[in-house]
Amino acid sequence: MKFIDSKFVEKMSETTNELYKHGWDERNGGNVSLRLTQEEVDQFDDLGKTIRNIPIDFDASPLAGQYYLVTGTGRYFKNVHNYPERDAGLVRITDEGNSVDLLWGFNDGGQPTSEFPSHLMTHIQRQKIDSNQRVVMHCHPTNLIALSFTHELDEASISRLLWKMQAESLVVFPEGVGIIPYMTPGTNDIGQATADKMSEYRVVMWPHHGIFACGDSMDEVYGLIETVEKACQIYTTIKSQGGNIEQSITDDDLRDLAKSFGVTPNPDFLSMDAVKN
Ligand code: 13P
Ligand code: ZN
Repeated sequence: MKFIDSKFVEKMSETTNELYKHGWDERNGGNVSLRLTQEEVDQFDDLGKTIRNIPIDFDASPLAGQYYLVTGTGRYFKNVHNYPERDAGLVRITDEGNSVDLLWGFNDGGQPTSEFPSHLMTHIQRQKIDSNQRVVMHCHPTNLIALSFTHELDEASISRLLWKMQAESLVVFPEGVGIIPYMTPGTNDIGQATADKMSEYRVVMWPHHGIFACGDSMDEVYGLIETVEKACQIYTTIKSQGGNIEQSITDDDLRDLAKSFGVTPNPDFLSMDAVKN
């Protein structure tokens, strides 16, 4: 079987197209990486040899030997589903961790996303916590970016706001939303700051830029971003309706939600002490 026909390429194509259609990835905005296992890679006849080696300028040696299907830098998400072999690539992290071997894709000479440091540093961090971790996704959701201009950039305050915008929020991101300061995209520094937050959160706001999220599968991470952005959209709509909240989900309601869905809210943002019976 050829890799182009695999469910991995199909899922990458579908997901990047959905991200584009939602308006979260204008032009070349956004990037996605998906880890493949050795057994998964071994199924394909056309992944035998290295097409070329691509240097990376940080230490990815904790991921040595791992495989990542990743979107290319400068590639438009509206196009990936039509040109996956051009706009995405499958790479293996070399033993030294300072370069990757290209096994498939980037067939016009392309390279992994400029946010590869943030992706790989996040993969390193999350694999320490959860060995099922496979996906990192970055995009530019409109309402979340808008919120980063109008709201205090405080993790407790933004997490509690988004939990109260809809009943789904607490269940989907009980640990809340991490926030880093505004930083220059594509740098190792933003990668390290993001990865540090990923020790506690699965979703991190990049103020005035976008969101970084991680998880086990494409659908799970997409759903996580979708839920955060929907909560931000509800907030935008409330503000556009005049901003007066007449009634809302209360802290007691959040505690009840946590209890019935078996999730543990971040204790720094919501104490479970006063649970109603
Ligand atoms: P790339 O085109 O390099 O993936 O960058 C897009 C982006 O969103 C940068 O933050
Ligand atoms: Zn971006």
